[in-house]
Amino acid sequence: MKFKIMLAPGDGIGPEIIEQAQKVLETVGKRFDHQFEYVETAVGGASIERYGRALTEETLAVAKSADAILFGAVGDPRYDDPTAEVRPEQALLGLRRELDLFANLRPVKIWDPLINDSPLKPEIVRDTDIMVIRELTSGIYFGEPKKKWKTEQGRHALNTMQYAEHEIERIAHVAFQIARLRNKRVTSVDKANVLETSQLWREVVVEVAADYPDVALEHILVDACAMHLINNPRRFDVIVTANMFGDILTDEAAMLTGSLGMMPSASLTARNAEGRGTGLYEPIHGSAPDIAGQGLANPIGMIMSAAMMLRLSFGLDEEAKAIESAVNTALEQGLRTADIARDKAKALSTTQMGDEIRERLTG
Ligand code: IPM
Ligand code: MG
Repeated sequence: MKFKIMLAPGDGIGPEIIEQAQKVLETVGKRFDHQFEYVETAVGGASIERYGRALTEETLAVAKSADAILFGAVGDPRYDDPTAEVRPEQALLGLRRELDLFANLRPVKIWDPLINDSPLKPEIVRDTDIMVIRELTSGIYFGEPKKKWKTEQGRHALNTMQYAEHEIERIAHVAFQIARLRNKRVTSVDKANVLETSQLWREVVVEVAADYPDVALEHILVDACAMHLINNPRRFDVIVTANMFGDILTDEAAMLTGSLGMMPSASLTARNAEGRGTGLYEPIHGSAPDIAGQGLANPIGMIMSAAMMLRLSFGLDEEAKAIESAVNTALEQGLRTADIARDKAKALSTTQMGDEIRERLTG
């Protein structure tokens, strides 16, 4: 089969890790007889530098016409003034919004070979397997009004946390449907003891749950969820939550696995009548400018994001599994990048890790 992939390497370590994912895809393509056509675009700081904007209309048009997007990372110290009008993060937020990528899937799975490398005790993290589903196109990230202003009393700032019923409804359906393919348990996370948006969230999730009598639903408050995640992560199957809560909880959850560099993600939209809808795949870590260009980055989060793309956008399950097992074998054999290596002197570079994974793919 033939697929058109938009490559958006972005900033910092983005280009190095995306190169590894592309290598892996080429090998998968050869082995399983698929053709991947790539269109490379500049996003984030790389786009600001060339075009003065983080996301151009041309890039957006490519995104809309692609079968899927592989996204590296955005964020560049040259443009990191949070008050600036033009910022690298606008590329990511703009793509999420424009492509209506409302469902962000962030799997938190412990790799057995790394069980002793988690900052938590192995008996706590063992067998952890959570799918966090974060609402990605609404909530406080996008609510209006948002502004900063000055008065005689000093400076003020305002953001709006808002949710519409249909926005909660559609993400809840995604959560229940995914739970059906897993252990049939959904934990909805909110702050309903304080926030109106969370009260609505809870009401709507309960209503949607009526369509899924075979799936168990519980509600927990976001602060308690933060605690349970490090106290007893095994209690979770699917977690569904609002945009900002999901942002925070997934960084926390990623640390269970030992490194932020290991975690992939998929951002999906509703499929149209032809069954199409562009998905965006990216590791959850950022651009890590402090280690960029030094071969220190872990490409696994990016490579696993490519595996998610094969499975979720292209329906290529066997191919996705081949990548996952190549990564697992590499880890079992003790191969490590610096972020997960105990013995830093033996750590592989970004490219070496990419090559090792690719070699284990030829099957
Ligand atoms: C993430 C990131 C983004 C977010 C940033 C880069 C805007 O932290 O994908 O989790 O806050 O959503
Ligand atoms: Mg984040």
